[in-house]
Amino acid sequence: MWGGRFAEGPSAIMREINASIPFDKALWQQDIAASKAHVAMLAAQGIVSATDAETIAGGLDRVAQEYADNGVPEDWDLEDIHMTTESRLAELIGPAAGRLHTARSRNDQVATDFRLWVRQAIDQAEAGLVALQRALVTRAEEHAASIMPGFTHLQTAQPVTLGHHLMAYYEMIRRDRSRFADARVRMNECPLGSAALAGTGFPIDREATAKALGFDRPTGNSLDAVSDRDFALDYLQAAAQTSLHLSRLAEEMILWASQPFGFVKMPDTLSTGSSIMPQKKNPDAAELVRGHSGRIVGCLTALTVTMKGLPLAYSKDMQDDKPPVFEAAGLLALSIAAMTGMVADSTFVTARMRQAAELGYATATDLADWLVRQADIPFREAHHITGAAVKLAESKGVALEALTMEELQAIDSRIDERVYAALSVESSVAARASYGGTAPEQVQRQVSAARKLLGME
Ligand code: ARG
Repeated sequence: MWGGRFAEGPSAIMREINASIPFDKALWQQDIAASKAHVAMLAAQGIVSATDAETIAGGLDRVAQEYADNGVPEDWDLEDIHMTTESRLAELIGPAAGRLHTARSRNDQVATDFRLWVRQAIDQAEAGLVALQRALVTRAEEHAASIMPGFTHLQTAQPVTLGHHLMAYYEMIRRDRSRFADARVRMNECPLGSAALAGTGFPIDREATAKALGFDRPTGNSLDAVSDRDFALDYLQAAAQTSLHLSRLAEEMILWASQPFGFVKMPDTLSTGSSIMPQKKNPDAAELVRGHSGRIVGCLTALTVTMKGLPLAYSKDMQDDKPPVFEAAGLLALSIAAMTGMVADSTFVTARMRQAAELGYATATDLADWLVRQADIPFREAHHITGAAVKLAESKGVALEALTMEELQAIDSRIDERVYAALSVESSVAARASYGGTAPEQVQRQVSAARKLLGME
């Protein structure tokens, strides 16, 4: 493509280090679409003849068909998807192919292709996350009143409902979706026509190509347009944040599936066995989701560090932008799908969850609150009295409500029979009906709002 200036061809190592075709062949559909939009515009502007434009567009369709049928050939000498396509086009239609690259450069071409690819990855993430939210909402509604221990420091804190816990993840995913949507709005400008860096002297119509490719408008500065990978970083940041949420959910499922917890039975379809221990059912899918989040954060770090010191405009370092984005997108899609299946198909062992809530002194705060309300005791004193009750119950190895009235009155004479009603996990949960709280009626309110937003009604 540039032989005119060179006395010698590239060395073997130059060819190998230079080749991006092994990974950027993933951009072939975007590359063909952008070329077709470009050549149609060139013809409309009278920059190439209508006949040539027609020949080129037909040739591009044939190349696309070949790629679809046989895959994209990997010839390192052709470096990347842009030159691979152009070279095949020349073989198919002859010299007219040489007119396609008028008024553009691979710099604006790759920036355009990659934006189109990332835009599609955002749309895929959005669809996957909606499915995950639907699964969460469905299971949350089913378990709006199922009681489990809520934890802080992974120590039993207060009883909560499983529905409330699941809806916490719905909220995280809601924010993730808004991050992707935000990234999409910001990135939806078309670099095509920025050419190598300075724009072009040809009378091109950038509005036309932008519109043909579904962009909102052309980018405003050609130097920025070919140097900018913010759109890829925005995507990776949203992906990393999402994967972090998926990893926390995965971690909880792993913990809950362990025998000492026994809160959940994961679906067989998302578990593996052991080659030596016949009783084992391992949560490998969830563990891999937890692991993948580390890799996705790594992808974000990789591109961030690649971009940080680059002068304007294009530098070849930027060819390294694609592998981390492709890798992260693949890992993210798998992680979302795995967690959606896990949420939809796991069996929650509600009896065990409830038992754990009862045995963990989860209603100690309710006893303290009762003392404040019924006996007008300052909260700090009530906290102290309740601590003594927990200490006694613990030493006897029983739940709070198993302490007798004599035992409770020996701790504080102001306690009476009515206290037992406050000590049950049901009344504890029902009492927390503040907006966003764990009471079943509040969970139902959250679920209803979510169902509306997700179009589940
Ligand atoms: N293979 C290159 C990439 O992926 C295409 C752009 C090449 N531009 C250049 N000036 N060498 O980034």
